[in-house]
Amino acid sequence: MKPSIIVHGGAWDIPEGLAESNVKGCEHAAHKGFEELEGGASALDAVVESVAAMEDNPTFNAGVGAVLNRSGMVELDAIVMDGASLRYGAVAAIQSTRNPIKVARTILDERNYSLLVAEGALKHADEHGFSRCSAEDLLVGRELEDYREFQRTGRIRTRLHFSGEADTVGACAIDQEGHVACATSTGGIPRKHLGRVGDSPIIGCGGYADDRAGAASATGWGEQIASVILAKTALDLQGQLSDPTAACREAVSILSERVDGLGGVIMVGIDGRVGLYHNTPRMAFAFIEGMSGSTGAGISL
Ligand code: GLY
Repeated sequence: MKPSIIVHGGAWDIPEGLAESNVKGCEHAAHKGFEELEGGASALDAVVESVAAMEDNPTFNAGVGAVLNRSGMVELDAIVMDGASLRYGAVAAIQSTRNPIKVARTILDERNYSLLVAEGALKHADEHGFSRCSAEDLLVGRELEDYREFQRTGRIRTRLHFSGEADTVGACAIDQEGHVACATSTGGIPRKHLGRVGDSPIIGCGGYADDRAGAASATGWGEQIASVILAKTALDLQGQLSDPTAACREAVSILSERVDGLGGVIMVGIDGRVGLYHNTPRMAFAFIEGMSGSTGAGISL
């Protein structure tokens, strides 16, 4: 079948001044993943490629450019899931790593574990040849200034975060064989507690992929997203509605109504159609839908 891919750069109140870099970053990531798919690569490889491109882009809160926690450190979370085997790999609270999604991909091949945290995740990365980076390698001026303001004022405003600061990135794809995959990566919430882990690396919450339904990746306020298992909920709804946009919309309604949560979700269905929905002011996205030939990128309002 003709492949499709959709990516997001986070659901939050993207200011006009950052809109272009967010859209361009999403477009670039979607094209990188789609090139892989067109060349016959698996959906799994394509979503890792797309998310790694966004981790390398300082625009986004993932990899380079991630937010600092309350202790002034970067701790990263990521998940990748294969819809054919239902296997997944995830890392949480990992430091000193440029591309946590690539570490998560190597964990997916392990038989004895699927999610590793902190030092354990870093040890696995070392054992698989990933070179460590310094904290400064991940730090961008925007985040340093933001942390300095926190040091001055001591203010932590988690709800305002989603109306004011960058969030998670993600990708969902279907390949020529009809297999689906998702990948999600984040620096989490600014000024989060040391060791705090949100939805992103938790299966079903930050991402889920199943060849019988599709693939979904979530973004937003992690605690609330986890309460409603947003990605899996969206895919269950897709099973009933067979319309990715409607399924994402219904899932986000549940997030709003049940836990007053803020966020968004993207999806690719097993027929190759893509969809997205969010209840934050904005969400950056890009997609290439192989069957319809339709493409798009922008800031969803
Ligand atoms: N969605 C990112 C987080 O809450 O950590």
